[in-house]
Amino acid sequence: MSESDQINRRREEFPTLASGIHLLSHSLGPVPRAARASMAAYYEAWEKHTSEDAWATSWWEMSAHVGDRLAKILGGQTGSVQIQPNASVALSCVASCFDFATSKRNKVVTSALDFPSMQYVWDAQQQAGARVEVIPSDDGVEIPLERMLDAIDDETALVAISHVSFRSSYRFDPAPIVAKAHRHGALVLLDVYQSAGAVEMNAQNWNVDFLIGGTIKWLCGGPACGYLYVRPDLQKTLRPRLTGWVAHEAPFDFAPPPQRYDSSVRRFAQGTPSIPALYSVLPGLKIIEEVGVQTIQAESQRRTEWMIDFALERGWKVNSPRDVNQRGGSVMVYVEDGPAMVRRLAERKVFVDCRPGVGLRVSTHFFNTDEEVREAVQILSELI
Ligand SMILES: Cc1ncc(COP(=O)(O)O)c(C=O)c1O
Repeated sequence: MSESDQINRRREEFPTLASGIHLLSHSLGPVPRAARASMAAYYEAWEKHTSEDAWATSWWEMSAHVGDRLAKILGGQTGSVQIQPNASVALSCVASCFDFATSKRNKVVTSALDFPSMQYVWDAQQQAGARVEVIPSDDGVEIPLERMLDAIDDETALVAISHVSFRSSYRFDPAPIVAKAHRHGALVLLDVYQSAGAVEMNAQNWNVDFLIGGTIKWLCGGPACGYLYVRPDLQKTLRPRLTGWVAHEAPFDFAPPPQRYDSSVRRFAQGTPSIPALYSVLPGLKIIEEVGVQTIQAESQRRTEWMIDFALERGWKVNSPRDVNQRGGSVMVYVEDGPAMVRRLAERKVFVDCRPGVGLRVSTHFFNTDEEVREAVQILSELI
């Protein structure tokens, strides 16, 4: 592996990197140094609120501003992203747009590689009349595309799957799934929490209907700021039952019901936005925009490839796809006792995590040097 000389790793902008080898971007990214000033700006605006109305001067517009910047990273148009409290609520907001009880089109296709929150949300929707088909994985790592496509039929309301799986880093190709779903009159939602910021996104070209995710992992934001992308020409046809006053076309009329949904993507909002979360997102977002996801993905692919080769040469079991086009930014390496290995690695200043049945989850971001990656897997080989 030869160090790329193309990339500015901006390591001095992430104080945490001085404390060890941070390979946790699938979980919580390292705090950008500029987040301190951003959080202080939040405090100052709050402190001065009576003299300078913080809502009027900046806070009210902030969700739309951050939403538009996220839309760009997702490959979507301005006005296609509404900030949400977290990805789980974003998914529930989408679920609340469907009327499963009264329609024959009531099937939701999901996958066994999805994040548990997502599985719980769909499980709960069965009480509201949804039929949920969970597409299994034979090895806990991949799901053949054909198997996913075969499940989509004229009774499918929605295909809702992880773009990149939190447990294996398996990455679906969205385009054929969207094409088949649309042919059958179904919609498609991708959970892009593990892909946005690590892998190039193409919401518009994929013609995908919904994307959900959040900012604390690959986008280097603080906990927690979720988001929901809705295909622009679909937005006005949907009336989420998970709603609130901020979704109203004239929120400051404080009008009696029924809800009159705003004509913009704000119709997918609920209540008061989490302003501190928005401030915590800005510095990381700026860095990711400046470095560029194309560069980040190229670096990620080069290093995940190298790590997988290193692991396979030593006979380790890799629980992630070998094909770079089917992989996100993480590599999962099976070990017998994950929590113990995570502790032993942390003692050597290598920070990763683990998941039951998966093993270690190891992620390099643009700020990791090749030297760090080599050192981390070398330490792992000593401990294994
Ligand atoms: C793929 C994926 N989806 C969803 C979530 C949960 O998101 P939230 O806590 O914002 O609901 C995670 C968190 O790890 C995740 O990895």
